[in-house]
Amino acid sequence: MTRDADELDRRFMAEALAFSRQHDGLTGTNPSVGTVIVRDDGEGPRIIGRGVTAIGGRPHAETQALAEAGEGARGATAYVTLEPCAHHGKTPPCAEKLVEAGIARVVGAAHDPDPRVSGKGYAILRTAGVEVTEGVMAEEASDQLASYLIRSIKKRPEVILKLALSADGMIGRSGAGQIAITGDRARHQVHLDRARCDGILVGIGTALADDPELTVRIPGMESRSPTRIVLDKDGRLPLTSKLVGSVKRAPVLLAVGNTLPAEKRATFTEAGVEILGAEIFEGSIALPELLEDLGQRGFMRVMVEGGAATARHFLDEGLVDRIMLYRGQVVIGEGGVAAPVRADTIPDGFILRRDQTLGPDSYLEWSRKI
Ligand SMILES: NC(=O)c1ccc[n+]([C@@H]2O[C@H](COP(=O)([O-])OP(=O)(O)OC[C@H]3O[C@@H](n4cnc5c(N)ncnc54)[C@H](OP(=O)(O)O)[C@@H]3O)[C@@H](O)[C@H]2O)c1
Repeated sequence: MTRDADELDRRFMAEALAFSRQHDGLTGTNPSVGTVIVRDDGEGPRIIGRGVTAIGGRPHAETQALAEAGEGARGATAYVTLEPCAHHGKTPPCAEKLVEAGIARVVGAAHDPDPRVSGKGYAILRTAGVEVTEGVMAEEASDQLASYLIRSIKKRPEVILKLALSADGMIGRSGAGQIAITGDRARHQVHLDRARCDGILVGIGTALADDPELTVRIPGMESRSPTRIVLDKDGRLPLTSKLVGSVKRAPVLLAVGNTLPAEKRATFTEAGVEILGAEIFEGSIALPELLEDLGQRGFMRVMVEGGAATARHFLDEGLVDRIMLYRGQVVIGEGGVAAPVRADTIPDGFILRRDQTLGPDSYLEWSRKI
């Protein structure tokens, strides 16, 4: 393939990836995939169909892009951010739909590890005489589809560790409650990120010290608040906390040990808090098992918002997939709680994905290669 053709493929794949972001966090346990269909009638390539996995997960992106392209799909190229599905449900698989529509070439990005699809989607296409180019912008697509790929491969949700660091590398001051470390733009971005997650998790230390609400507070997006999860083996979360007080707006899941008395469980349940029985290992909630349970409940992406002990446990156990660090101008000084991870102590294997300035603050994001 020539360099120009290669670049053209990357350009259209970038378009499909940008399109796929529209429904990120809204497609249930399905990945938010993007498809663009491109046709060249001699006057240069042009997009004749676009599709993104529908809210809730169906129809798939390919179906929608093909519908928009209509008869124009015959002889055209389809750019798909994930290998097209190969298994029959109530409707035929996307690989067959692409063949039926007369698509001449399929360019794919990420590989699907689901054993019902893996390699089979591309095989259907090739057997039918469709030209297939795999792995275009695969790294970018895999990073974007991380929650789906991690759930498929590791049987647990993607774990995102988010922390706000002061200029002197602290995340808070003991006994001081919540301290504003970053400004409005950074806070707005945090709320947008929360909306893309289905779970937001803190240790009981943070729940007691900060009394956070952990909801999405962007006008019009309040209903996108994820389930708030608290690691609280002895059930110390006060019924008067903001978390319990806002339970009608977003669920609260309290991970407790099995020694928590039935009466205590009942008071939480009556207050609308759901109890999740957790296994205890060396005095702490066993995180791999907890994540497995969350995965089975359909959680795709869980944001760990601290505090220090909780973040440390997730990091030490190699359970963090993505690290988001916001850095503000505030200096905390004496009595500060040291950040469990900083830009200069990111564990091996993480790749820097974003480096942004948000008004007076900065934002850095790393993720592990999947
Ligand atoms: N800047 C930021 O981004 C940010 C974000 C959040 C918090 N903070 C700050 O962090 C500080 C609180 O940190 P922290 O370390 O005291 O609290 P934490 O990590 O929120 O909570 C720690 C507690 O969670 C419970 N827990 C249960 N299972 C656990 C497990 N597997 N791993 C870790 N913890 C487990 C333990 O209590 P039990 O054994 O009693 O269950 C443990 O003592 C506050 O100053 C707060 O302001 C800062």
